[in-house]
Amino acid sequence: MRITVVGCGYLGAVHAACMAKLGHEVVGIDVDENKIAELSAARAPFFEPGLEDLLLEVQATGRLSFTTDMSASKGSAVHFICVGTPQKKGENAADLTYVDAATNALIPHLSPGDIVVGKSTVPVGTAERLAAIVKLGQPEAQLLWNPEFLREGHAVSDTLSPDRLVYGVAGGSEDHPAVQLLDQVYAGPLEAGTPRLVADLPTAELVKTAANSFLATKISFINAMAELCEAAGADVTLLADAIGMDDRIGRKFLNAGIGFGGGCLPKDIRAFMARAGELGADQALTFLREVDAINMRRRNRVVELTRELCGGSLLGQRITVLGAAFKPKSDDVRDSPALSIAAQLQLQGAVVTVTDPEALKNASRRFPELHYQATTETAMERADALLLLTEWQEYRDLDPYDSAKLVSNLRILDGRNVLDSAKWRAAGWMYRGLGRP
Ligand code: UDX
Repeated sequence: MRITVVGCGYLGAVHAACMAKLGHEVVGIDVDENKIAELSAARAPFFEPGLEDLLLEVQATGRLSFTTDMSASKGSAVHFICVGTPQKKGENAADLTYVDAATNALIPHLSPGDIVVGKSTVPVGTAERLAAIVKLGQPEAQLLWNPEFLREGHAVSDTLSPDRLVYGVAGGSEDHPAVQLLDQVYAGPLEAGTPRLVADLPTAELVKTAANSFLATKISFINAMAELCEAAGADVTLLADAIGMDDRIGRKFLNAGIGFGGGCLPKDIRAFMARAGELGADQALTFLREVDAINMRRRNRVVELTRELCGGSLLGQRITVLGAAFKPKSDDVRDSPALSIAAQLQLQGAVVTVTDPEALKNASRRFPELHYQATTETAMERADALLLLTEWQEYRDLDPYDSAKLVSNLRILDGRNVLDSAKWRAAGWMYRGLGRP
């Protein structure tokens, strides 16, 4: 099948490559010429494990191409919309400029029988609005919503073998003609047993925002427990292990630490609250305010703990921050809690050096005032305190004895609760976790 993917960011670039891997002929379209040049040369414009190998593999088959020319969408039966929906400046709501622009730009190139498939995370009601615009432009084309649940760092496998596929179609009926077309697109994963649900448009949009809200709530729940554990002298990691053994609760997404960040969870819960307000259902989501507040409190807590760790003052203290990305296996620093903490510490008089295996370029672009070091060893030299803020494997594997030889003071704050506290303490370190005694 010939497929168009509009928007070649984290979502679209991976989706385009994976659709080609599934055997389709794919054209990826983006307005950003640099991105298109990189992708055309089989280089990933961001760090995502496995993506570059996949790009090389599928481009060699001739089934995948990239362009800035929207007219290349002509002749495709399926057009995926994968553009970003960032938070609006100064507001909680989502900015739909790119989704609207992509849909409008596609319309002149649609043929009868084509389907436009939205994958971006949008406020409920957007799909119905866009479906009407598509109908006006090409009465025999349809718009569907097929939310994407991929995680950065696992994007390729999440796309090729998703947990579930959700198709949102007008009316929500299995008999909708577009369902068959989308089944052909996803024939590979469906044959491998991926469950597929057909829903109406608003339900499909809500599945995505509800899922992300639940995940954010789970993280903030355990971080609230961490606050309580700190007050009561208990250990939140053991608490999470114990409650997680109840399979109604589950251990995943119960890692207490510096909280969630990234390009999705923070902006998605805010946009969800804003949309609920517009729909007159704001009370239903007031708890998400608390989820957001608990999450943001973690960052302040780490600044305070670092001050304590440094003997009461941050002035002139050399602080080394291990990790800048919002999570490991990513170079994404959007709303990264690690960088936000690093910037706060610097503002309060500390001399902060940040290191990260992949995210330094993005980090230095966003926070040029911080110091950066490419290697863990040089970053740690003469540090008064180490802060492990993104749990890359190489930081989890740090040896407390070798590390002790590099730093000035043996102090470490484990912002992700991933180190063996007993081992670090035995090596002479003053160790602090979050929500741990
Ligand atoms: C998320 C959703 O998981 C994904 O389904 C959706 O499509 C997009 O948003 P992503 O933003 O890639 O994916 O990251 P995720 O793995 O969910 O982590 C989000 C944040 O939560 C990270 O900052 C991570 O460090 C933090 N986190 C995660 C915790 O603090 N504790 C946990 O237990 C799990």
